[in-house]
Amino acid sequence: MSRPLVKIGPHLLPNALFVAPMAGVTDRPFRQLCRRLGAGYAVSEMVTSRKELWGSLKTSRRADHSGEPGPIAVQIAGTDAAMMAEAAAYNVDRGAQIIDINMGCPAKKVCNKWAGSALMRNEALALEIVESVVAQCVPRGVPVTLKMRTGWSADERNALRLAKLFEAAGIAMLTIHGRTREQGYKGLAEYDTIAAVKAALSIPVVANGDIDTPEKARDVLAYTQADALMIGRAAQGRPWIFREVAHFLATGEHLPPPTIVEARDVLTEHLHDHYGLYGELSGVRSARKHIGWAVRGLPGGEAFRQHMNTLERCDQQLQALRDWFDELGQAHDRLPPTLAAANDEDAQADEACAA
Ligand SMILES: Cc1cc2nc3c(=O)[nH]c(=O)nc-3n(C[C@H](O)[C@H](O)[C@H](O)COP(=O)(O)O)c2cc1C
Repeated sequence: MSRPLVKIGPHLLPNALFVAPMAGVTDRPFRQLCRRLGAGYAVSEMVTSRKELWGSLKTSRRADHSGEPGPIAVQIAGTDAAMMAEAAAYNVDRGAQIIDINMGCPAKKVCNKWAGSALMRNEALALEIVESVVAQCVPRGVPVTLKMRTGWSADERNALRLAKLFEAAGIAMLTIHGRTREQGYKGLAEYDTIAAVKAALSIPVVANGDIDTPEKARDVLAYTQADALMIGRAAQGRPWIFREVAHFLATGEHLPPPTIVEARDVLTEHLHDHYGLYGELSGVRSARKHIGWAVRGLPGGEAFRQHMNTLERCDQQLQALRDWFDELGQAHDRLPPTLAAANDEDAQADEACAA
């Protein structure tokens, strides 16, 4: 990619392909996996601004950054400016080098309050939150970034107006998912609003939404002139998409898909890391979704996914996975093309963000 590298405050990022924050997905093992396979930047899952939840196992797992390459970016969500500033300070004290404000989550309620993208509808409150988080972080040398949608609904597409206010208030980088809050994950992402925001701002602007192939990445970059791209769902089960996109943007040529052996080994390594963070009981269960994504659309993948749901131990899960990939390897050297598979992102994100 010939464009200049993105700088967030003092942090120069190694490339312009970012993995999107996805609550319940982009935990530390998954972020590290994506970084190893070509993502230049990874924002951690949302941490609530509700203090009483900071001691919970879920929040402390979300705040696990051990061994993670910097810069450490933590996303916070909430609806109260003072609480958000406190949440930012709490995370900075625990090693966050960048704080990202979530105004993108479409879940009906984030932590029982209308947060996430719902804040875009209340511009005064949105700005107050930005100002108080910036006032807390910037004097400590920690830049503040923000992720939002194009607006609340098709009639209230106010991303451009908000983006200008946020830039003036000191936001260091802005990511825009090309859907309104009303759309959830339905319909198609549009890139006109992202292009308009990019043209109007001096800070880096990141384009997000429906980027799922190297060609789409090239086209979205060209159309929006964004400084970077953020990829979410297309990285689920296919973390090598980052190196595939990077290679295509650099050379115009496609990398071959991973070999079956590499795909098996990447997933196995991911699972070991995953069990290390969650322990056996919870790890085996939460690993199922990653395994399901990895085999989605592959021959025999659906039957295997169902079988996986019956296994309750790490060693069983690992062995079944090895056997399944080895069998696939009898017929293919490399991962075969996948069939499109249904995925209910609204439910997935709702469940994850509400947590
Ligand atoms: C399961 C799931 C959880 C998500 N959680 C968050 C979140 O915590 N914070 C956030 O800003 N966006 C969240 N998102 C939105 C993604 O970051 C991204 O904006 C969206 O998926 C569109 O990008 P994509 O088409 O590349 O997936 C989530 C999306 C999914 C599917």
